Amino acid sequence: MSETVASRSRIKDPSQAPSGHQAIEWARRNSPVLDGFVRKKVNDGSLRGKRVAVVVHLEAKTAFLATVLADAGAHVVAAGSNPWSTRDNVAAALVERGIEVHSTRGSTNEMWEADLSRVGDTSPDYVIDDGGELTIRMARDKPKLYAQLKGVSEETTTGVVRLRELERLGRLPMPVVAANDAALKHMFDNRFGTGQSTVQAVLALTNLRMAGKRFVVVGYGWVGRGIAAYAHALGARVTAVEVDPIRALEAHSDGHEVADMTTALSTADIAITATGGIRAITSRHFDALKPHVVLANAGHHDHEVDVPALIGQADSVDEVRPGVTRYRLGSKPVYVLSEGALVNIAGGLGHPVEIMDLSFSVQALGCHYLASNDLSPGIHQFPLELDKAIATAKLASRGITLDHLDEDQTDTLSEILDADTYQSWGNE
Ligand SMILES: NC(=O)c1ccc[n+]([C@@H]2O[C@H](COP(=O)([O-])OP(=O)(O)OC[C@H]3O[C@@H](n4cnc5c(N)ncnc54)[C@H](O)[C@@H]3O)[C@@H](O)[C@H]2O)c1
Repeated sequence: MSETVASRSRIKDPSQAPSGHQAIEWARRNSPVLDGFVRKKVNDGSLRGKRVAVVVHLEAKTAFLATVLADAGAHVVAAGSNPWSTRDNVAAALVERGIEVHSTRGSTNEMWEADLSRVGDTSPDYVIDDGGELTIRMARDKPKLYAQLKGVSEETTTGVVRLRELERLGRLPMPVVAANDAALKHMFDNRFGTGQSTVQAVLALTNLRMAGKRFVVVGYGWVGRGIAAYAHALGARVTAVEVDPIRALEAHSDGHEVADMTTALSTADIAITATGGIRAITSRHFDALKPHVVLANAGHHDHEVDVPALIGQADSVDEVRPGVTRYRLGSKPVYVLSEGALVNIAGGLGHPVEIMDLSFSVQALGCHYLASNDLSPGIHQFPLELDKAIATAKLASRGITLDHLDEDQTDTLSEILDADTYQSWGNE
């Protein structure tokens, strides 16, 4: 019997497809750049017949990206970059659209690893990755297929850091586009997208209000400063914890308190990690936690809030609301949201669609750039002219036109030097 996309896929329940289609259609309707300017550009034939693995949080916006690439002629295979963020209805809808999927929400770590392995076994030409999750596993477990990869476009800060490390070790034989480093990605997605959706998820999961809360953000990078701005806008009193003096000074200049972890946690009602590392809040900080503190994570790794250490020290663990786990440390209750996974995606709706219209325009064009240019191995910046083209298309979709500089508004040397001197230098 010949294999079909459905028989090759591992999803939870094909009957959930109708609501998945609706969610993808909503994403499409609110993604004018990806559905317009970008769709036109990637439809030039350079992706036709290419195998593209999409390993990003598997929900509606990602699914729409996958369909745009499939419509351009690519053979797309998808899996989730974190098992807690997969939407089973969207996965089912993708399979109905002819895209192979390996993912179910909340799968065990072993099942998730097996899913990524199956995607790697399809021998992709290009990977659209998040956190480098597929790329580093292919480097480790499938050296032959890894060597055949033609390119990777990487979504997030942690992934770019990991892939730079592979490059430093001499283990990056293909070109990589650092999609995260595109202005249209990190300045909007990491900051505004994560800022809004993290605060939104914390409020929705807890049914608490933000005004008057003592709110700690650990890590004041693009993500941390976005979260701080949205929490502050809703009336929270924000304290930032940083290890980088420049970022700490920036937090201070933005009007927030800055403190070391123990001081900050001792008064915190809510603390969110956004460092990109692991164990940002760990056992040595537990004594400082105030009773009833709410802890959550917005960074890539599930272990920024050290949940295994909490489990190890807790006298009891129970779920007090969906997505809210209580750990009793002696008589002190501590709450963790979404098991410490990225709270805005695992415990919320993820970034606003309009933000992902930008991020996934960068990803689609990053993949197209890899397929239509002969790039050298190593990390490449996303071309500035593409960044500007996406911004222009987004502004146009909102009916916004840009001004331009006239000649007499440009600062040139001829304004300072007399005309003869200026001309004679040019002729020497
Ligand atoms: N949740 C989401 O939807 C989402 C979106 C984009 C990025 N991310 C992820 O969020 C994380 C942060 O991304 P970013 O772009 O802000 O990175 P960034 O590098 O700009 O900022 C991280 C900051 O954390 C600080 N830091 C590191 N370890 C620390 C510690 N233990 N204590 C205090 N400060 C510490 C660093 O000095 C740095 O300023 C990454 O893992 C990234 O992949 C998540």
